[in-house]
Amino acid sequence: MARDPAASYRGWNADANFDRMIEPARRWAPDLLVLTGDLSEDASIESYCRIRDWACRIECPVAWIPGNHDERGAMLPVFEEAGFSSGPVVEAGSWQLALLDSTWPDDPGGELDEARLKPLAELDGGRPVGIFVHHQPIPVGAAWIDKVGMRSAGRLWARVRELPSARFIAFGHVHQRFRQQVDGVECLACPSTAANSLPGTPRFSAGETTPMARWFVLGEDNFRSGYLAA
Ligand SMILES: [Fe+2]
Repeated sequence: MARDPAASYRGWNADANFDRMIEPARRWAPDLLVLTGDLSEDASIESYCRIRDWACRIECPVAWIPGNHDERGAMLPVFEEAGFSSGPVVEAGSWQLALLDSTWPDDPGGELDEARLKPLAELDGGRPVGIFVHHQPIPVGAAWIDKVGMRSAGRLWARVRELPSARFIAFGHVHQRFRQQVDGVECLACPSTAANSLPGTPRFSAGETTPMARWFVLGEDNFRSGYLAA
């Protein structure tokens, strides 16, 4: 979204697309909604207030991480007042969901330093773990967005290898479908509510379903996931 609710993003109106996701999301009736960043294009308070109001209409707990277009300091008061969680760990049944902030000011790419990775070291290795982070920890095969992925991703992967109960890493940022297993860990893109590209193309390429979200069903020690479209 942006300060102007009529603003266009890659030919789409984000507010209208958010509205189109309300009914599919309510039918899905999630136990938790995780917002994976780049919620606003201009980090305006107005846009965060509208996103808050939209998320409240899904009628479930909400968790969030910032994206490179966001400003954590602008989001925090709006979302905290609404009771949205920024983690760094959210409990979901037997699962521990770690919300990691990979964003840095004026930086379209991302990185997790040791301080940002610390929540992973404090998780219970006997329970399944899902990680949410804005930037993709492996290339998705799309040059336009892989050039601003997660730098030094080996740091995250080293921690994940020490955590055998890590089941998935889910990320926003890439505006496309993507799923790939790495060392037994599923890397799962969460497509965009605002505009999606056909997957694996060198430039952002229109033609993919928009708006879209990713659903998860978390079992005792396993999970399923797929795409939810309006
Ligand atoms: Fe992003």
